[in-house]
Amino acid sequence: MPTAPAPEPWSDTWREARLHVVTGKGGTGKTTVAAAMATALAESGRRVLLAEVEQRQSLAPVLGCSPLDDHERLVQVTPAGGELHALAVDARASLMEYLRVHYHLGPAGAVLDQVGAVDLATSIAPGLGDVLVMGKLYEATRRTPRHQRRRGTPESYDVVVVDAPPTGRVVRFLQANAEVADLARVGPIKAQADAVTAVVHSDQTVVHLVTVLEEMPVTETVEAVGELRGAGLRTGLLVVNQVRDDGLAEDDLDAFHAAVDGDVDVAAIAEELRALQVPEPDDTARRLLAHARGHAERLLVEGEQQEVLDAVGLPTVLLPTLEGIGPRTLPRLAAALASQVGALV
Ligand SMILES: Nc1ncnc2c1ncn2[C@@H]1O[C@H](COP(=O)(O)OP(=O)(O)OP(=O)(O)O)[C@@H](O)[C@H]1O
Ligand SMILES: [Mg+2]
Repeated sequence: MPTAPAPEPWSDTWREARLHVVTGKGGTGKTTVAAAMATALAESGRRVLLAEVEQRQSLAPVLGCSPLDDHERLVQVTPAGGELHALAVDARASLMEYLRVHYHLGPAGAVLDQVGAVDLATSIAPGLGDVLVMGKLYEATRRTPRHQRRRGTPESYDVVVVDAPPTGRVVRFLQANAEVADLARVGPIKAQADAVTAVVHSDQTVVHLVTVLEEMPVTETVEAVGELRGAGLRTGLLVVNQVRDDGLAEDDLDAFHAAVDGDVDVAAIAEELRALQVPEPDDTARRLLAHARGHAERLLVEGEQQEVLDAVGLPTVLLPTLEGIGPRTLPRLAAALASQVGALV
């Protein structure tokens, strides 16, 4: 018997969304956050497909499973009856599937692959890879629910979560089909590109942004929000990742600010250290102060960057810095995400 589901991470905000796209500047935590989001959704009882699209095998270590390939694989069943499936989308495999479905080119498609036509096609038109990958994700969101599907047809999902390309490339990635739709006048390619474009621009798709509280990632995030909005794509959460808990009270912060401003009496600290019989009190006092100053400056930068982010006006969640990301720690991030998203609405 399934137990009670974990908190519903989306409530009404994104009830319609089937495709959750997670982007951010490189290295800020896209893969980690996509995995946490997919886990949270599965724990609330959903059937979830988590997909990576860059052929980097980033998800497997986070999920604690063997390397993913272009076959969807069940990774986890949750107590609430949810399921987490994972996949590494491969443009080549998607093209073969596309030819099979739309042109009934089963064996002929394989021949094309053997003679290098698939590599040729994707190298001549670099955007083609994006078109195919988006097509695959679109297809995964459109399947008939499990209770209705015929034997042998693929699994259906409530939601698809994508570990997407970084902010600098995400709009092109999502818009790749719109470009094709403009180029192709008629035929199955046009119909498919139109259908994908319609879903990407509908309430069924939402783009979440991951950042850390540093200047470059925050600047990129703000730019990406502008680009996404300009392209008519729906933005979702702003996930501030790797937040450090300093355990500092207000009074401590005042002391830190004094350190930055140079208002601290090093000689007095050295005197106290000497009284405590700390070795090399003058040197230790100077090093302590330098450490405090570095820390204080970081806190100031983080505060400034948080203000820049606040001005963007996206619903924001903060995720803590954990010691290592993997299958043991992922549920903690998932729980932090779910409880904060639940509280947003
Ligand atoms: N909340 C966190 N706490 C601790 N470590 C984290 C956290 N989030 C991410 N990391 C670590 O930071 C590094 C980058 O995270 P991740 O791989 O998820 O980023 P990414 O944006 O997907 O990177 P890339 O651009 O290379 O794909 C990894 O080593 C990951 O384990
Ligand atoms: Mg990644």
